[in-house]
Amino acid sequence: MIIILIGAPGSGKGTQAAALCGKFGFTHLSTGDIFRAEMAAKTALGLKAAEYVKSGKLVPDHVVTEMVAIKLEDLKGGRYLLDGFPRNLEQAQTLAGVLSKPGAAIDLVLFLNLTHAEAMKRLTSRRLCGGCGAVFNVLSRPPQTEGKCDKCGEALVQRDDDTEATARKRLMVYEDLTRPLAAYYKAEQVFYEIDAGQSPEEVTASLAAIIQPLLAAR
Ligand code: AP5
Ligand code: MG
Repeated sequence: MIIILIGAPGSGKGTQAAALCGKFGFTHLSTGDIFRAEMAAKTALGLKAAEYVKSGKLVPDHVVTEMVAIKLEDLKGGRYLLDGFPRNLEQAQTLAGVLSKPGAAIDLVLFLNLTHAEAMKRLTSRRLCGGCGAVFNVLSRPPQTEGKCDKCGEALVQRDDDTEATARKRLMVYEDLTRPLAAYYKAEQVFYEIDAGQSPEEVTASLAAIIQPLLAAR
């Protein structure tokens, strides 16, 4: 089973992926998280990706698709939640090619729709735990102790690409390259649009209501 989460930076893909993986046991595949881990470990892939991620541009397609193809190699039988991939039409077409083998297909595309104004507010107020990576928000999900992770006590940090200027750039890139995927996938009958402006719990409930019948039918 493959579910794709599409949405602007800050629309809640990571937040919802964590909730849905906890609820339904999906394997979460976030290309952004993979790049950040590779960048932190200063691997060859991380060094290649860093200049793009830090400036809010997309990492070149061949770098991304090679990495995702390795992760998806063993698709058959797994339940995957893709967060941040595909990100443009070329990547969507590459994914379609990878999935053309028997037993693998896209089951659902879930589009988290959010205004840019709300996305900017969420991105510039997001904080991450430098230790375990847990996600907080100084406005909507503050930690119990200011600046410290509730789970492991490590200091909270801001993502390098969450500055106002880079967040704006990412939203422009999203509008140009990623949003057109909504129309691309709408043409198939697996597309649902969700109001991502609701509370995190309401968004999770909306998504779960779409996913549950699909799982029940398996
Ligand atoms: P990536 O990490 O995928 O970033 P993104 O798409 O910009 O999305 P974000 O992670 O910023 O937001 P999110 O939707 O996950 O929101 P979250 O749940 O954290 O990509 C980063 C970079 O990597 C790209 O710019 C690119 O360079 C590269 N890259 C990645 N994939 C690529 C690809 N396929 N091809 C090429 N390059 C690629 O929530 C945000 C904040 O809001 C949090 O603080 C959260 O607590 C809060 N929040 C969440 N939901 C709600 C709610 N309902 N109400 C109030 N607050 C909320
Ligand atoms: Mg994310």
